[in-house]
Amino acid sequence: MTKGWTKSDWRAKPRVQMPDYPDAAALSAIEAQLAKYPPLVFAGEARRLRAELADVAAGRAFLLQGGDCAESFAEFSADNIRDTFKVMLQMAVVLTWGAKLPVVKVGRMAGQFAKPRSAPTELVGGTELPSYRGDIINGFEFTAESRVPDPNRMLMAYTQAAASLNLLRAFSTGGFADIHRVQSWISGFVEEDEAERYREIAGRIQDAMDFMAAAGVTSDTAHELGKVDFYTSHEALLLEYEEALCRIDSTTGLPVAGSGHMIWIGDRTRQPDGAHVEFCRGVQNPIGLKCGPTTTVEDLKVLMSRLNPHNEPGRLTLIARFGAGKVADNLPRLIRTVREEGAEVVWSCDPMHGNTIKSSSGYKTRPFESVLREVREFFQIHKAEGTIPGGVHFEMTGKDVTECTGGVRAVSDENLSDRYHTACDPRLNASQSLELAFLVAEELNDRRTAARAASA
Ligand code: PEP
Ligand code: CO
Repeated sequence: MTKGWTKSDWRAKPRVQMPDYPDAAALSAIEAQLAKYPPLVFAGEARRLRAELADVAAGRAFLLQGGDCAESFAEFSADNIRDTFKVMLQMAVVLTWGAKLPVVKVGRMAGQFAKPRSAPTELVGGTELPSYRGDIINGFEFTAESRVPDPNRMLMAYTQAAASLNLLRAFSTGGFADIHRVQSWISGFVEEDEAERYREIAGRIQDAMDFMAAAGVTSDTAHELGKVDFYTSHEALLLEYEEALCRIDSTTGLPVAGSGHMIWIGDRTRQPDGAHVEFCRGVQNPIGLKCGPTTTVEDLKVLMSRLNPHNEPGRLTLIARFGAGKVADNLPRLIRTVREEGAEVVWSCDPMHGNTIKSSSGYKTRPFESVLREVREFFQIHKAEGTIPGGVHFEMTGKDVTECTGGVRAVSDENLSDRYHTACDPRLNASQSLELAFLVAEELNDRRTAARAASA
């Protein structure tokens, strides 16, 4: 992709948010070991995702990206993977039904382990220790020993990612995701209102399937009905790990990140001359770029030209994360920059990271109302600017956690301690995720109706 680029070039650039490993020899040994392991994804899959994202950029498909803020070793289980996958399938059904568009499904899964932090240290009861940076780097436990960056954790993360991806592939193609099972994907603890709305759509899809079966079309004759494409993504934060899994695609001869299908650059690591941009610009995977209130027009221009010099649709997804009430102040100037530059991008909305607050009970939370509001604002601005709202990016889980307040089930500040399991930021639970999918489906449907009326 980029002439003269090598996977180690980032090492000469300023780096932020990365650990200083105390044992350099141990680090090198792990890097050498990982470099010999198979990549987790095949380059052709990353290229296919790019092509699908090009459809998103053109308004012919919609992007649904979601999963944990931070995957953890402790919460690793088949049930957790299945439940998140299942909620994403439900959301995709609601969105496809509402928008009559294919939904490109991308999990924040099978690799989302490294976390940028707002402070390098954490103070608890008079003791100050290095911050937890995700299970791929150090331990969550608040002890000096656990907070030391340990390169062995990269191998554990690789193994967990490989096992997660294996299960996701099995679920995607092995019958679980067959559209004929649409009625079975609903989770037991989804609030009755949402469940009812979902069941209605599922029932109508079932009717359509029965009709098609009578006409001779089943999963056996139309294989597409029996499986889904499901992609993985994570923030490319720990560059030693990314470099070790970088491979040359034998088909194109180009470098590809083998750690996941899509990688993104976080709001704290998007310095145009920094290490993270340097690594990401050289691999051919689809790249996400978080855009926050501090993203300047000048930086965006440089970043777009570095990350997508040939202006290929599907290569770059701009993930807007401003916070409810701040979208109108920020998004229009970035949309206009993209337009002026003639840049091809996917616009996605992350309504999570600009809406984190500390609750009265001391927990880090996100009011569901703020999440909904930011999504609505994102759609409104795109409508006003005549641009395409291409997707959404959520921190969510299929479990019945109490991490974000509000929603139909009305999680309150006091409830947060009931089932607060996240290793990092608060996630939407299954009910809240589905509620959000209905809202997005309505927004997309309005857009479709307006487009139809305009062309009539
Ligand atoms: C994240 O997506 O988990 C994250 C840290 O986001 P941001 O870089 O937008 O703050
Ligand atoms: Co997060």
